[in-house]
Amino acid sequence: MSFTRRQVLAGLAGLGVAGLGAGGVRYWLGRPENVATHDYELIAAPLDLELVPGHVTPAWGYGGQAPGVELRCRQGERLRVRFINKLEQQSTIHWHGIRLPLEMDGVPYVSQAPVLPGEYFDYDFICHDAGSFWYHPHTTSAEQLGRGLVGPLIVEEREPTGFRHERTLSLKTWHIDEQGAFTDFLVPRQAAREGTRGRLTTINGEPNPTLELPEGQIVRLRLINVDNTVTYRLNLPGGEARIYALDGNPVEPRPLGKEYWLGPGMRIDLALKVPVAGEELSLRNGPLRLATLKGIASAEAAGDWPPALPANPVAEPDLSRAETLRFNFEWAAALASPSDEAAGRYKYWQINGQAWDINDKTCADRPIATLQKDGHYIFVLRNMAQYQHPIHLHGMTFKVLGSDRRKIIPYFTDTYLLGKNETARIAFVADNPGVWMFHCHVIDHMETGLMAAIEVV
Ligand code: C2O
Ligand code: CU
Ligand code: CU
Repeated sequence: MSFTRRQVLAGLAGLGVAGLGAGGVRYWLGRPENVATHDYELIAAPLDLELVPGHVTPAWGYGGQAPGVELRCRQGERLRVRFINKLEQQSTIHWHGIRLPLEMDGVPYVSQAPVLPGEYFDYDFICHDAGSFWYHPHTTSAEQLGRGLVGPLIVEEREPTGFRHERTLSLKTWHIDEQGAFTDFLVPRQAAREGTRGRLTTINGEPNPTLELPEGQIVRLRLINVDNTVTYRLNLPGGEARIYALDGNPVEPRPLGKEYWLGPGMRIDLALKVPVAGEELSLRNGPLRLATLKGIASAEAAGDWPPALPANPVAEPDLSRAETLRFNFEWAAALASPSDEAAGRYKYWQINGQAWDINDKTCADRPIATLQKDGHYIFVLRNMAQYQHPIHLHGMTFKVLGSDRRKIIPYFTDTYLLGKNETARIAFVADNPGVWMFHCHVIDHMETGLMAAIEVV
């Protein structure tokens, strides 16, 4: 169930009751009437899902669904969300890819105190950039994201874009067994490699769904990888699809090509020309089918490819005066002492010789780099390992300049999939003061060392 902004504006209060979950928790999301403090109430709570027919999966959801309810806002407008925590553990919400003030970034002990069970926190920020974003906690991430606390955040362009149809597809591979029970979200031996993979692949919580789309129309597909570890190798054999945006930022439209690797945290906006009624395409991850895209009869006149989406107002880095900083992402076997491991504290990864300790609340007091506000920077990202890392920076959008492994058409993003042994260069203007997380979005890697803080003063 999802709501359009129009419905929300029309007053959804009380209408959004989506289910009665474990413990009788009532979920709802909507625009409360006569409330001056927020536009949405978003409840995180336990939620029983039927991912495997006839079996219950004890998930956690936002707004009564997992992946969570889709939040929408218009570019340049303020988004105000009251986050209500009905879980039995503390949580926060981080708005992935949104350039916002540090106090709204959702990182515990850095931007806010964790939101305790039964408490709430009001998030309030302006969405400067249009595009496909998402939200998730930044606490006990392997479990909280793993159980379903992930959701899309769509920021609509100021003006109509020429797309008359769109769908949001949140990709997640659940860590559950054949009976729907959760399996380990973080297996140490896997965390030291590519990350702990789930078993059941879904789109919007459904394995292998069929999406019915109006024939002849150009549909905007917003694919969001909300998974903990999986890089989806997206392909659409026989389909006519063009890339319009990467990670929320518009690109010059170009064909999807053979395959696009969508790492954890990343997004791709595709324009798809829907085939004639009755014809089917299969959206795949490598050779595996993720969804069937099916044309259905439509009376609408055939659509045309919309022009490129308008660029977001991101500052252009000036490379001629940029300072260069180097970051090495390495695997380091013997980082954790046996007593650490006995206590469940594993460290396998480090950035420039420093491993983040997920249990140490003071790590952010020791930033790995301090940047001058409004300074221009080039980061050289070097992956010294044979596992790929989707490298993500909070608070600022960066431009990918080039790579020693592939041809790059420079583009803006918040997450770059750094391949095996690859070295890439990114650049940005440090225009947002604060202490910003800089980490791998393979959640197991992030929780076993591959995170750091970048300070902008
Ligand atoms: Cu999706 Cu720290 O981020
Ligand atoms: Cu983020
Ligand atoms: Cu990684």
